Amino acid sequence: MHTTAAPSATARMAFTHMKRHLPPKQALSGRLTGNGAVEVGASGCHVELSDGRSALDFGSYAVTILGHRHPDVLEAVHRQLDLMPTATRLLTNPVTAAAAAALAAYLGGALNRVFFGANGADAVEAAIKLARLASGRDRIVAVQGGFHGKSLGALALTHHERFRGGLHDVLAPVVHVSPDDPDAVARECAAGDVAALVFEPLQGENGVRPLDGEVVRAWCAAAADHDTFVVADEIQTGLRRCGERSLALVTGLPVDAVLLGKSLGGGVLPLSAAVCSERLYAPLLADPTVHSTTFSGHPLACAALPVALEAIEASAVQGRVVAAAMERGLARIRHEHAHLVEEVRGRGLLWGLDLPSEDLTAKLIVRLAHAGLLVSPCMSRPATLRLMPPMVAGVAEVEQALEILSSVLSELPAHPGAKT
Ligand SMILES: Cc1ncc(COP(=O)(O)O)c(C=O)c1O
Repeated sequence: MHTTAAPSATARMAFTHMKRHLPPKQALSGRLTGNGAVEVGASGCHVELSDGRSALDFGSYAVTILGHRHPDVLEAVHRQLDLMPTATRLLTNPVTAAAAAALAAYLGGALNRVFFGANGADAVEAAIKLARLASGRDRIVAVQGGFHGKSLGALALTHHERFRGGLHDVLAPVVHVSPDDPDAVARECAAGDVAALVFEPLQGENGVRPLDGEVVRAWCAAAADHDTFVVADEIQTGLRRCGERSLALVTGLPVDAVLLGKSLGGGVLPLSAAVCSERLYAPLLADPTVHSTTFSGHPLACAALPVALEAIEASAVQGRVVAAAMERGLARIRHEHAHLVEEVRGRGLLWGLDLPSEDLTAKLIVRLAHAGLLVSPCMSRPATLRLMPPMVAGVAEVEQALEILSSVLSELPAHPGAKT
C-alpha cells in the first residue's frame, strides 16, 4: 500500500492550508499518516484517499458505528436539507421534538428529558450545569483517568494534566476518585456539597479500561444516600459501541442522566445529548433559557437521529458477530506478538492494545494507515492503540484488518527501543 507518488494538487493545497491556518503539527501528522494523500471520500468501512488508495476505517474516534454515509441516514438528512435544515427557535420544530421522543424511548423511557448538543462536551457541560443548579451544590466527583471533553466545564472532569495544564484556576471544583476505592463517593458526599458523580462505565480514552461494576454500584448507592446526581458518560461506550444501548442502564444503575454523542448523528452529522431525569432537568423545567445554544436540537442533525437508532438496532446482531470476531482475532494477535502486545482489553466494538511505549504506538498507527487500516490513538493513554470497527463491517473485513495489524506488528522491531 506504500506510495511514493507526489501529492496531488488537492493534497498539496490541503497541507498548505492546514500548515498556515490550523495547528501545523496536525498537518504534519496527517501528511505522514496519509503518506502524502488526504481523505476525499468514504462509504461503509472504507475511506478513499486522494491518490486512489482505499483504507479500512476501524477508527474515526468512535463516530462511525454505522460506517460512513449509511444510506438510511443520508436519505433522512437529504430530505430535511430540502425541507428545513435550520430552526427558527421561535416556533416548535417537529423534527427536534421527534428526535427527543425517539431518544427517550430508545433508553427505555425512565430518563425522559433531553438536552441536545453537537459535541460530547456539550452534553457533559449541560449535565454538570443542571446538577449544580438543581442541587445548589458546587462539587462534582469524577474518576481518575476519566475523559469527558476539553471545553472548560467538561475539562474540569477530564483527568489528564496534558489537557488541564495552565487552566487549573478556571476549572470548576472536581475531585477525582480512585477507580479502586469503593468508599470514595461516600466519603466525598459525607464531606458535603457534592452535586453529582460523573463516570464512564468503561474509560475509552484512558486505554479502554472498564470500571469495576461493584465499585460503581457502591458509588451509586452512596450518591443516592446523599441525593447526589449520578451521570453516566456513555458518549463513547453507548449506542451499542460496547454491545448495549447503555452499559449503565442495562446493569440497572440508578442514574439521573446518560450522555450520548459520537454516532448519535448516524456518523453523518455532529449530535450529542444529555438524557436526563425530571429531577436533574428541573432548572430547564423552570426556565428553558438557563441553558441553551443556537444550534441545540438542530433539525438537520435531529433528522438523522431516529434513523440512526433504527439502523443501529437493525445491525445489533451483526455488531455481535463483528465483536466476537474481534475478540477471537485480537486474542490470537496478543499470543502471536506477545513481545509487543502487552495486553488487550475491550468489549463489543471497542478494543485497546497496549504496546511498550507511546513512541511505538504512534509508529504503529502510521504504518497501519500506510498498510490500509485506520485506527485511533487513546488521548489519555497514547501507548494504547484503539480499534473501533463499525457494526456494519463483515467478518471478512475484520479478518482483513487483523491480518494488516498482524503483518505490520511483525515488521516492528522485536526490541522496541531499537531504531525502525
Ligand atoms: C467519554 C467521553 N466523554 C466526552 C467526550 C467528549 O466528546 P467530544 O470530543 O465530542 O466533545 C469524549 C470524547 O472522546 C468521550 O470519550
